[in-house]
This record gives sequence, structure tokens and C-alpha cells, in this order.
Amino acid sequence: MKLTVAWTIMVTTLLGVAMDGYDCKVVQFIFGDSLSDVGNNDRLSKSLAQASLPWYGIDFGNGLPNGRFCNGRTVADIIGDRTGLPRPPAFLDPSLTEDMILENGVNYASGGGGILNETGSLFIQRFSLYKQIGLFQGTQELIKAKIGKEAAENFFQKSRYVVALGSNDFINNYLLPVYNDGWKYSDEGFINYLMETLKAQLTILHGLGARELMVFGLGPMGCIPLQRVLSTSGECQDKTNKLALSFNQAGSKMLKELSGNLPNASFKFGDAYDVVDAVITNPQKYGFNNSDSPCCSFGKIRPALTCVPASILCEDRSKYVFWDEYHPSDSANELIATELIRKFGFLPVNETNAPSPGPTVDAPSPGLAVDAPSPGLAVAPSPEG
Ligand SMILES: *[C@@H]1O[C@H](CO)[C@@H](O)[C@H](O)[C@H]1NC(C)=O
Ligand SMILES: *[C@@H]1O[C@H](CO)[C@@H](O)[C@H](O)[C@H]1NC(C)=O
Ligand SMILES: *[C@@H]1O[C@H](CO)[C@@H](O)[C@H](O)[C@H]1NC(C)=O
Ligand SMILES: *[C@@H]1O[C@H](CO)[C@@H](O)[C@H](O)[C@H]1NC(C)=O
Repeated sequence: MKLTVAWTIMVTTLLGVAMDGYDCKVVQFIFGDSLSDVGNNDRLSKSLAQASLPWYGIDFGNGLPNGRFCNGRTVADIIGDRTGLPRPPAFLDPSLTEDMILENGVNYASGGGGILNETGSLFIQRFSLYKQIGLFQGTQELIKAKIGKEAAENFFQKSRYVVALGSNDFINNYLLPVYNDGWKYSDEGFINYLMETLKAQLTILHGLGARELMVFGLGPMGCIPLQRVLSTSGECQDKTNKLALSFNQAGSKMLKELSGNLPNASFKFGDAYDVVDAVITNPQKYGFNNSDSPCCSFGKIRPALTCVPASILCEDRSKYVFWDEYHPSDSANELIATELIRKFGFLPVNETNAPSPGPTVDAPSPGLAVDAPSPGLAVAPSPEG
């Protein structure tokens, strides 16, 4: 009798060790729009938002288009690199396997996507945040089948989550006259609608195991070149910037509440609005030389909605805040990432679980003489929520 009990305990202990001992890495799951897309839209054959032509990707790896809406790296690339996390492949990458997911995570981000299902419908095909969460659920089933339920739960709880959407809900929905949402809501009402939707989505992610999650807020999106050309003076659109500020304020408050209410959750909100605003106002101070027009443009024809092979590139890409009409350049993303790391107080993943930060596809840092506002790279805890 005693022996049986002892055996039972021993077997259970061994099993327990085996389960906990499944040595899964810390990886990231990224939900986002074109600012984080690494190739999903390029594989959505009907999508009108693609970064599949030169000169996208010119400062990344072999210089060919790779699906990023940038000349170089995304903000999520840079934050992941600096915190020792691998760069997750695009969900639609045809070579994606369970082993790759366990090693690198997955990126579901899709150009044109928004918090709201209806956002970005002008692009015909894109993954909204709800759709991306649905795809993540599918990923979880695959991993459960591969390593078992318990190990999978452990893996997903240890993972890090990035949620970075919202610009399209304004630029490609609320602010366009063809969308109902613009008629139906006041500014405040629309932001409340976004917050309720986002809160429900983050709660679903928590239910699916997300514990460490960060939400990126919005930058001064009234200053993207596309918004500036709306006025003859070329000034930033104040109304659009105010919406971004209200979104950030409401998002920060919502995340604090949510993080306090959900068990074991460390959900954080951070934005780089102020830093980007400062760079736009005073580009020289930060090592830039242009903060109002796209580096890649089609001669004098503005707005040229995407960068195309016939476009002309600016002389020094590292001196432009904007790469195209919508998207910041690699250099600007570097600055944004540094600010977000500071705000999130993001710690590097413990070296023993982490892969070496050396990315396989190496991206150049184009002359990063950026006079960053935060001295050094503050990858240290900061009290900010
Ligand atoms: C949004 O789309 C998802 C499917 O991706 C669907 O389950 C959900 O009901 C939709 N929500 C609304 C408010 O339309
Ligand atoms: C929260 O963490 C504790 C301690 O690790 C654990 O026992 C509990 O099951 C967790 N709860 C949830 C909902 O994750
Ligand atoms: C900055 O841009 C102006 C024209 O816009 C150019 O004349 C000047 O040489 C540039 N300076 C640097 C340091 O690139
Ligand atoms: C990583 O974690 C292990 C065990 O938890 C610890 O012994 C080691 O010192 C940690 N390394 C760093 C760089 O923090």
C-alpha cells in the first residue's frame, strides 16, 4: 500500500517535471496593421494594400520587398531584437510549421486592418483584429495537437503579445466620408466604441492565455504626409492629431483598468506620440532633415498612395521621418521603438531562454545619429504604466 502511494507520487512528480520541463522558448505573437505587417498582405491576392514592389524593403536584408511597409524594420522588429526575442514569421508564410511557431511565434498583422471589422474595407482584403484573433485560435489548436494541452497552455502563457492597431480605424474609416461610422458617431462616441471593442478583444486574448501584452498607441497621424496634403498649406491636420491623443488617453486608462481586473495580467499601453511630435516639429535636432514629405514619392505628384518602382527616392533615407505617404522610415521606427521600450520598461528576455539577438536577416541601421531623447537605451524597468 505504502509502496503504491510512493510510486504514484513519484510517477506524478516525474510527469509533472516532464510537463513543466517542456523547454519552450519565449516568443511573440503580433497583432497589427501595416506598421507591423511582415508579409501577410502580400499573400492576400486581392488586397490593395501590399508592400510587394520596390522600393519597399530596400534597407532590409537583400533589399528586395519583404512585405514590410517600410524601407527597413518595423517598430515591433526593433523592440523584439532589443529584448532578445526572435522575429515572428508572417502567419501566411507558406513555410510556417509548428516547430517554427514554437521557436519564433507568429505575426498576424495585416496592412489596412483595424480594431473594427469594417475598417479598411477599401483595401478589399485585410485581417481585422477579430480575424487575427481567430487565426491565433487556430494556431493554438495546432500547437496543442503537437505538444499537448498542458505544455501548450504553458507556452502561450509565457509568450509575449503585441497589439498595434488603430490608425486605420481613423484614417481608413472614421475620417473618410464613405464610411457609416463617420456619420454615426461623435469623436468621443467613436473612441468609446473603439475602446469597448478593443477591451473585448484583449479580454478574449487573456482567455486564450495572454498574460504579458503590450498595446502600442498612436502617433501624430495628422502629420503623415497623406494628411498634410489635405490642406493647401501642408500643415498637420489638428483634428486628426486630437483624435490620436484622445485615443491614447482612453487606451492608457482602459489598459490600466483591464490589467488590474484580469488575473495575472500584465497588460500595458504605451505610445510615442510626444517624441514623434517633437521630431516632426524640430527634425534637425534629432538628426533628421525632412519630416513632412515621403522619402519615396512619384515626382511632384502627391499623394502617390504607395511607393512604386518608378518612384524617386530621397537622397538620404535615414534623414526622412516618413518613408511613404503613411509610414515612418526605419530611422523613425528606431526612435519610436526606443521610446516604447522606455515606456513599457521592457526587460530583455533572460539570456538562457532567449536566442541570440543577432537576426538572421540583418537590417542596417542607416546612420543612426539620432539624438534620442532618452539617454542610452533604457531597457530598464520604469514605473510608467
Ligand atoms: C467581427 O468579425 C468576427 C469574425 O472575424 C465576427 O465573429 C464578429 O461577430 C464580428 N463583429 C461585429 C461587431 O461585426
Ligand atoms: C495566476 O497565477 C497563479 C500562480 O502562478 C496560478 O496558480 C493561477 O492559476 C493563475 N491564474 C490564472 C487565471 O492564470
Ligand atoms: C537638408 O535638406 C536640404 C533641402 O531640403 C538640403 O539642401 C540639405 O543639404 C540637406 N542637409 C542634409 C544634412 O542632408
Ligand atoms: C537566467 O535565469 C537563470 C535561471 O532562472 C539564472 O540562473 C540566470 O542567472 C539568469 N540569467 C540572467 C542573465 O539573468
